[in-house]
Amino acid sequence: MEDFVAFDFLLLEIDFIVTTFAIGKGNSPKIFDVGVWYFCLNGTSDSGISVTFVDKDGEEQHIRVPVGMSMLEAAHENDIELEGACEGSLACSTCHVIVMDVEYYNKLEDPTDEENDMLDLAFGLSETSRLGCQVIAKPELDGIRLAIPAATRNFAVDGYVPKPH
Ligand code: FES
Repeated sequence: MEDFVAFDFLLLEIDFIVTTFAIGKGNSPKIFDVGVWYFCLNGTSDSGISVTFVDKDGEEQHIRVPVGMSMLEAAHENDIELEGACEGSLACSTCHVIVMDVEYYNKLEDPTDEENDMLDLAFGLSETSRLGCQVIAKPELDGIRLAIPAATRNFAVDGYVPKPH
């Protein structure tokens, strides 16, 4: 995404130079606003990042996730079946996802001890496993692919009641 933003600004820069030149020649600047329109239509600054969820059957769902939103929230907003029994309180492992590309896994913040404790209980733990509620969308994660394991284990304590956010 950073490349797109840089490209947008390059276009705006060209647009400014061309428009300035056009005004100097007595032309209307409106016909030279290609860069501005490209920037507006492209909308890379607020349309979120591209995320693909892959379910246990290999079905892919492509969604856009606003920067700052967790993958668990994003999944729920898009009717993707990712459990999240404790609603992001690090008291279960039902939001377990597997980051499919190591390149993206390495861009994530390191998991906290609490997340690692819960991950240890997750079904089908892998080298690139994370809890979906702890993976927060940021521009560097544009294009990330997350596999949803075939099963989950819920070790949330009996009687646990998630706190509202
Ligand atoms: S929803 Fe329970 S730890 Fe993520």
